[in-house]
Amino acid sequence: MAVATKFTITLSLLFSLLLLVQNEAASNIKRNDNRRLAIEDQLAKARYNIRKAIVDKRFASTDDNGSFISETTMYKNPFAFLQSYNEMMKTFKIWIYNEGDAPLAHNGPMKCIYSIEGDFIQQMERKGHPVVANHPDEAHAFFIPISVSNIVQYLYMPTEKSGFFRRMQVIVEDYIGVIAERYPYWNRSNGADHFYVACHDWGPWVSKGNPKLFENLIRVLCNANTSEGFIPRRDVSMSEIYGPFNNIPLVGSGQSPNNRSILAFFAGGNHGYVRNKLFQSWGNKQDSDIQVHSYLPKGENYTELLSKSKYCLCPSGYEVASARLTEAIHMGCVPVVIKDHYVLPYNDVLDWSQFSVQVAVTNIPDLKGVLDDIPFSKYLELQKKVMEVQKHFTLNIPAKNFDVFHMILHSVWLRRLNFQLRES
Ligand SMILES: *[C@@H]1O[C@H](CO)[C@@H](O)[C@H](O)[C@H]1NC(C)=O
Ligand SMILES: *[C@@H]1O[C@H](CO)[C@@H](O)[C@H](O)[C@H]1NC(C)=O
Ligand SMILES: *[C@@H]1O[C@H](CO)[C@@H](O)[C@H](O)[C@H]1NC(C)=O
Ligand SMILES: *[C@@H]1O[C@H](CO)[C@@H](O)[C@H](O)[C@H]1NC(C)=O
Ligand SMILES: *[C@@H]1O[C@H](CO)[C@@H](O)[C@H](O)[C@H]1NC(C)=O
Repeated sequence: MAVATKFTITLSLLFSLLLLVQNEAASNIKRNDNRRLAIEDQLAKARYNIRKAIVDKRFASTDDNGSFISETTMYKNPFAFLQSYNEMMKTFKIWIYNEGDAPLAHNGPMKCIYSIEGDFIQQMERKGHPVVANHPDEAHAFFIPISVSNIVQYLYMPTEKSGFFRRMQVIVEDYIGVIAERYPYWNRSNGADHFYVACHDWGPWVSKGNPKLFENLIRVLCNANTSEGFIPRRDVSMSEIYGPFNNIPLVGSGQSPNNRSILAFFAGGNHGYVRNKLFQSWGNKQDSDIQVHSYLPKGENYTELLSKSKYCLCPSGYEVASARLTEAIHMGCVPVVIKDHYVLPYNDVLDWSQFSVQVAVTNIPDLKGVLDDIPFSKYLELQKKVMEVQKHFTLNIPAKNFDVFHMILHSVWLRRLNFQLRES
């Protein structure tokens, strides 16, 4: 039954190991399974081109879209990323299972902090999207279009929390049972080329009831908490986006970096141990340079405060992820990430140290010192890269090249490149 081989390598090492994977692929595939062979052959070519781009420090294919990217230092390896992205655009096909009914499947929230979940599902289901396979035999990956946020919204009753978790798990397990019975694809890979997308805090709970079933499934989650079982090489960390303005969040430049009067800003609930510490050290206007509010002062405008702050604090709350990360980037404010166990979104390609500041929870009392120690010239560099990286955090309807939808797709693509389907 186990016909998928997982290459147990970390994604940051992915690109240097691609040739190895390719050689294995060549020797292990039998000719009697032509369709699977064709799929694996396409992936092997993509791996080869990516590796070549890394080694040659240039783009191996002719349709080099380097011009799209003017600033490349914010990537761990710009050649790997651009080549891989181009290979994805040329090659990647995803089959969306038709099973299931709205609102629990094929639908998702569009106007809350979990809206990226609904957006992703909606964009995938747009008619004729080039990444969507016409037939499952041509697909490299399989999308389970279930919305955890909608399951919670429609079925959760506050009186039955633990019972609800089990019901939620059963809905998804049943879905997998149906597709595994009807089609050969789930059994072929034990789920390793399948994925679901969940931004809801409870997204990771789906797989807890039956860990064996979910051993290989790619979970695309906002709540990417490693101490709750998030596995960076298998799962994908997705950014949270608060979709208030008809689902298109405001993206701008904010004030010029020379004209931002607030050193550091945060407004939000004091919940979770990280924020408790933040409020302990910096709440109640203890220092006017570090503004930490649970409620905004009357008459103040949140977006405008972000746009006139140099640094925007993004502490974890109850859960590791926060839409603030995206909001800060959208307003040209350098995010200050304060977290434990959080795998930052798209961090297998993005070099977060180039456009954010990371402060350990234990260093919260030194926050001001940490920020004061950053020279103004360094701040200007960080801010410039925040503006450059905006495109990767921007939601467009319909999606545009390199935007957040494509970053999610690319993360799934990388994980699919990282294993190979073998003969049964
Ligand atoms: C590269 O850019 C051109 C536009 O200049 C676009 O038509 C093409 O789709 C892009 N290719 C990829 C793989 O993104
Ligand atoms: C997949 O495996 C399950 C469990 O062994 C089995 O019940 C199911 O029939 C299989 N699906 C197909 C399409 O053979
Ligand atoms: C500087 O910021 C102030 C206050 O936010 C604003 O009124 C002014 O237009 C800004 N000036 C420049 C040059 O951006
Ligand atoms: C806050 O400011 C932004 C940007 O200037 C503006 O678009 C928005 O309407 C304002 N919000 C409120 C509630 O006034
Ligand atoms: C992450 O997971 C651990 C273990 O379940 C938990 O203690 C912690 O509160 C979670 N959230 C954050 C923000 O770290």
